[in-house]
Amino acid sequence: MRMLASVLAVPRRRAALTLLAAAAVSGTIALAGIQSVGLRTIFYAAAGLIQFALALAVVSGWWRRLNVVVVATVTVSVSVTLLWRTVGIPGGVSGLRLLDATDAPLSAAGLQILSLIVLLTGRRPSRRISGVASTAGKAVVTLLALVLSGVGVLSAASEIASAHMSSGHETSLTDLRESQGSEPLREFTLVAEPRVIGGETYWTYNGTVPGPELRVVEGDRLRITLVNHLPEATSIHWHGVSVPNAEDGVAGLTQNAVSPDETYTYEFVIREPGTFWFHTHQDTFHQTLRGLFGALVVAPRSGLFIDRDYTLFLHDSYSGTRDAREVLGGLITGAPSGQQPAFNATIGDLHLDALAGERVRLRIIGALQGDNEVRDISQMMRANPHELVLLGTPFTVMALDGRDLNAPSPIGPTWLPLAIGQRYDLEFTMPSQAAVRLLDRYGSESVTIGAGAVQSPPELSSLPRFDMLEYGGAAPDPLTDGGGFDHTYQLTLGNHFGFHEGQLQLMHTINGETSPNGTDYPVGPGERVRFVIDNRTDEFHSMHLHGHPFAVLRRNDTPVHGSPVHIDSLLVGPREHWEIAFHADNPGLWMFHCHVLIHAAFGMVATVSYPGIDSQFEMGTRSGNRPE
Ligand code: C2O
Ligand code: CU
Repeated sequence: MRMLASVLAVPRRRAALTLLAAAAVSGTIALAGIQSVGLRTIFYAAAGLIQFALALAVVSGWWRRLNVVVVATVTVSVSVTLLWRTVGIPGGVSGLRLLDATDAPLSAAGLQILSLIVLLTGRRPSRRISGVASTAGKAVVTLLALVLSGVGVLSAASEIASAHMSSGHETSLTDLRESQGSEPLREFTLVAEPRVIGGETYWTYNGTVPGPELRVVEGDRLRITLVNHLPEATSIHWHGVSVPNAEDGVAGLTQNAVSPDETYTYEFVIREPGTFWFHTHQDTFHQTLRGLFGALVVAPRSGLFIDRDYTLFLHDSYSGTRDAREVLGGLITGAPSGQQPAFNATIGDLHLDALAGERVRLRIIGALQGDNEVRDISQMMRANPHELVLLGTPFTVMALDGRDLNAPSPIGPTWLPLAIGQRYDLEFTMPSQAAVRLLDRYGSESVTIGAGAVQSPPELSSLPRFDMLEYGGAAPDPLTDGGGFDHTYQLTLGNHFGFHEGQLQLMHTINGETSPNGTDYPVGPGERVRFVIDNRTDEFHSMHLHGHPFAVLRRNDTPVHGSPVHIDSLLVGPREHWEIAFHADNPGLWMFHCHVLIHAAFGMVATVSYPGIDSQFEMGTRSGNRPE
């Protein structure tokens, strides 16, 4: 005790000890990252060594100019940490996490600042400060130093411990496949290849945009071989389908992107009927826009009591050969028999056959980045959802995102907002004399169903807007009833400036973080998980969770009071709050991202992960995997 007191009596020694503590915290942070060495690990290893060397230099007092060096080093190291935690630096962790008191890097920064204070105030003690005040000051500094070193070392050490614990009994992600079974096997081949359509080169599956419609029956086993004849690597994601994790098609998370001239086979049993779609999940923003997507329609085993079954894609594919985006045939059809979809090169003249009295189902899939009038990137960022209205007959919204609604009833002309990723299944009976018409917001695109006069549109701007919270009949929902969630997670949509591909950009963020260092939400098998989504931006976002449908609980203060709604892509309007919940029943590592693909490309990606799952895949330039 005596000795300690005499050691601490000398300011230089106190400063040196504080620096040593900072070195210990930095070293522990570096150790925590040792399994996947990145910029952070290297930075803290170097910082730790420098702090250690400075501590020795300070205590030996061999150089009078030393203080200048200490001030400089501490300033650099603390500023890097602060930058890292606010705007983000390339390859680093980004995001506003300054208030996280248990943050090891912040403890290291605090310790360094303390050592500076001790060093600088200790050198020229002020005569005006009484002995008592100075003793109190020392005590406060010592206490702070102790707390900071404790917190820093413990939090970095707990990172090490959790990394070790999870490495104990790991399941390899690639083992999360469909097990053998005797389900009816349906085999498809999708050749990804460039193809000239209407004088422009598109990237296609089997030569068409959208790709071929895959039409199967609930309970089928699908075996789909992707053949890559593109000049770039690619993959396929089965949007909305709860596939086993290894079949999810996300480059860098569940597989490596498939190189040119290679093939890759996906296999899964489809257990849910409904309207789904598939698209590339490598460089998704560019590749999907160039045409790599198609419909996956799953008929219920019990059959559908309809006469006509049409699939319509709302999309804005563009050929990569022009600078400006060419909006190309907004609405496309697939035929009931699963024939090739007709390519609609001219806008506004799509016609579908149906006879008076026939029952028609329209499956409308949103693959449109945003507002149809959007022509440049900055406008595309705004991504207003498209809106459609069906005129000429009452219609029923049978399903959202492929999942049936309870007790839906027919409605009159109503705007249907449709964001990218979402699907509507509509049904109606053909009127006896007139045609039925599907119009978009601008009247620039329409689909005519059946023959006869088309009813002239009513005052379109005064039509009501479809609200999924109040449509259909209430029913018990085991997923949401009774509360009792194992986790309630906050998901905050925001933006801030940060570095992206070497440039300062407006990044789109979830909880202030951007991919590939996005927020990870741990869930355990069997748990019921609630998300509170808070949009702090003035933009629309379409939040899509992989591998799990989710139930909508409420928007702002309004709970769902119509049919339970189970969807996979949620349109979140500017400044809106939503609550959703899902059942964690599909182990793996899953993306949870904004489906406005340009937002995802600029960071808006999180993950939901189950414990003990080891993905050997990585994202980034070295791996060639760029999932967004
Ligand atoms: Cu349509 Cu990440 O997916
Ligand atoms: Cu978004």
